[in-house]
Amino acid sequence: MKSSFYQHDVLSILDFSREDLELLFGYAERMEKSIDTKLSLLFGKMVALAFFEPSTRTRLSFEVAAKRLGADVISITGEESLSISKGESLADTIRMLDTYSDLIVIRHRYEGAAKYAAEIARHPVINAGDGKQHHPTQAMIDLYTVKKLFGTVDGLNYGILGDLRYGRASTSFIFSLTLFKPKKVYLISPESLRVREEVLHVLKERGVVYEERRSLGDVIEELDVLYVIRIQRERIPDPIEYEKVKGSYKVTLDLLKRAKKELKILHPLPKVDEIDERIDNTPHAAYFIQAKYGIPVRMALLALIFGVEP
Ligand code: NCD
Repeated sequence: MKSSFYQHDVLSILDFSREDLELLFGYAERMEKSIDTKLSLLFGKMVALAFFEPSTRTRLSFEVAAKRLGADVISITGEESLSISKGESLADTIRMLDTYSDLIVIRHRYEGAAKYAAEIARHPVINAGDGKQHHPTQAMIDLYTVKKLFGTVDGLNYGILGDLRYGRASTSFIFSLTLFKPKKVYLISPESLRVREEVLHVLKERGVVYEERRSLGDVIEELDVLYVIRIQRERIPDPIEYEKVKGSYKVTLDLLKRAKKELKILHPLPKVDEIDERIDNTPHAAYFIQAKYGIPVRMALLALIFGVEP
């Protein structure tokens, strides 16, 4: 039987169930075992990477994942180099990519761009980030990291710190926790970067216990997982607003003295100045392992979409 990923678009983490994600994690574990060998599961398939917004990890790990599975990859990056700068519409660009490839991975600064692409394309579309809205594959990696570190996603206290208003990675991570049973979720942000009402609505509707806080210091002792996101400067419409919140939160060694020994810090990266660099070398830092898991998780996702088993 084919899974619910088979030939499906991946637009929001909320389109999936806990069972779907557990299936994905099982595949990812198997992918980890064969990470150093090139597989031929997707031999003959063409994956198109359409990144209209900057990316390092997401684009590269999709490329590595596809190539490790034996697929070929074509990619476009940035709008300047494309015919879009000559006035070609996004719709026409997607139509073309759809005829050249078997799957499209898209990142765009506009909310809803991936959904729009999915309506146009015949082949599956994966949302690799649309504006401040969704970043479902990042959430899959984040959950997988928690599962690997703690053996479970359930029953833990989560703190999500930073620009929760414009952060799509934090938004998707918050959404993804509603599929599991976290003990409590602390949403920690400066007032002007508070999580949006529509996100809180999903938490309420799904019965997740959460609290909004302004300062990490208030809750640090409680946390098992601390998820940090940078200020999404490029999405804040008013530069004066950015100046006001710049540097307004930071994870320091001092704060960590009060944390549980087992506390793990996640971050989708890139990090700017929101985590003291000296924390990178402590057992609390899990963000580089998290980045590494991008490959097996994206390999697993591609395998499931194409209906091949590792
Ligand atoms: C995130 C993004 O693009 O939303 N990065 C990523 O994909 N790992 C987070 C960010 O840019 O802050």
